[in-house]
Amino acid sequence: MIGLFDRLARPLLHALDPEDAHRLAIRMLQFAPLPPAMRDDRRLALRVFGLNFPNPVGMAAGFDKNAEVPDALLHAGFGFVEVGTITPKPQAGNPRPRLFRLDADDGVINRLGFNSQGADAALRRLAARAQSGGLVGVNVGANKDSLDRIADYVALIERFAAVASYVTVNISSPNTPGLRDLQQAAVLNDLLARVIDARERVAPQAGPTPVLLKIAPDLSLPDLDDVVGIARSRRVDGMIVGNTTVTRPKNLREIGKAKEAGGLSGRPLLPLANRMLAETYVRVEGVFPLVGAGGIDSGAAALAKIRAGASLIQLYSALVFHGLGLAGEIKAELLAAFEREGVDSIGDFIGADAASVTAEPWPD
Ligand SMILES: Cc1cc2nc3c(=O)[nH]c(=O)nc-3n(C[C@H](O)[C@H](O)[C@H](O)COP(=O)(O)O)c2cc1C
Repeated sequence: MIGLFDRLARPLLHALDPEDAHRLAIRMLQFAPLPPAMRDDRRLALRVFGLNFPNPVGMAAGFDKNAEVPDALLHAGFGFVEVGTITPKPQAGNPRPRLFRLDADDGVINRLGFNSQGADAALRRLAARAQSGGLVGVNVGANKDSLDRIADYVALIERFAAVASYVTVNISSPNTPGLRDLQQAAVLNDLLARVIDARERVAPQAGPTPVLLKIAPDLSLPDLDDVVGIARSRRVDGMIVGNTTVTRPKNLREIGKAKEAGGLSGRPLLPLANRMLAETYVRVEGVFPLVGAGGIDSGAAALAKIRAGASLIQLYSALVFHGLGLAGEIKAELLAAFEREGVDSIGDFIGADAASVTAEPWPD
């Protein structure tokens, strides 16, 4: 059924302006929810950050920015859905056009700039579904005009902890000027201290809420040393590696669109994202798990991501090109890999290739 939905919807969505197509996809999921996907094979289940994931394939942040369709996405077979980025106050984001499909590359460039309906709207929706089950993470960010960005993160953790399976501190969007400066050591140390403190403060009412840090794939390795060191000392529960890149790989075919400002995602991001994931994995030394995002468009790419160090994976851009059925295809291909390699859980693959990936020439 999901295949049929994809076949009917995709040509229509591709004929539209990318942002209109995205809006329509959300509407379709709201008003014509998909039939539930098949129950997951038990071999796909895993426990990460103290949460039980039915499968490791997640919807990355940015698709459901305002928490409008998390349950429809869970029904479609995602093991977890990350909504957001949500900012405290509503904000419009950058002027359109700000979303570009690089069809020949299976890539996307966006400079949306945290367009968000704001915390109140998202909180209302998440509170209404709080008893529905399923893992829904909440990705939070600062308003563009905020005078105290760290205070924005703290306020959002306090508000969302009770309705979020986990919270992601997003300091890696390239489209809010200065946001990625929060990755600098001294600022990050302060940010994480205050965020973890806020989580502890609300825990008696909200319960234990894992806090994840989402980083850019564009950090230098010395900066990554600092970021991982601080994340470890501040005891975050995990990291997501990573966000979109401001770099442009040499082999992009859509030369014209590649010049658009913004973050690149999708297949062209895979080599860099895998490299940064593996570099992070070797630095984290198993202290906390990693979520791998960037360029996953097949079971093989998902497995490569897990082997580079991811316990869980997330995707977004490839869904634009392959449709929502991709989540099911990836799960089937992971199970086929289990059979082929004679293993019976994802744990056997996590990080298996991290050392060799870090020894390769830097991807260009
Ligand atoms: C259109 C678009 C919007 C995005 N918005 C967000 C966002 O609001 N917050 C965030 O943390 N990441 C955002 N991302 C980044 C994705 O969550 C993901 O980290 C990145 O796209 C790499 O995965 P992919 O190659 O599978 O798309 C966005 C990505 C795209 C393509």
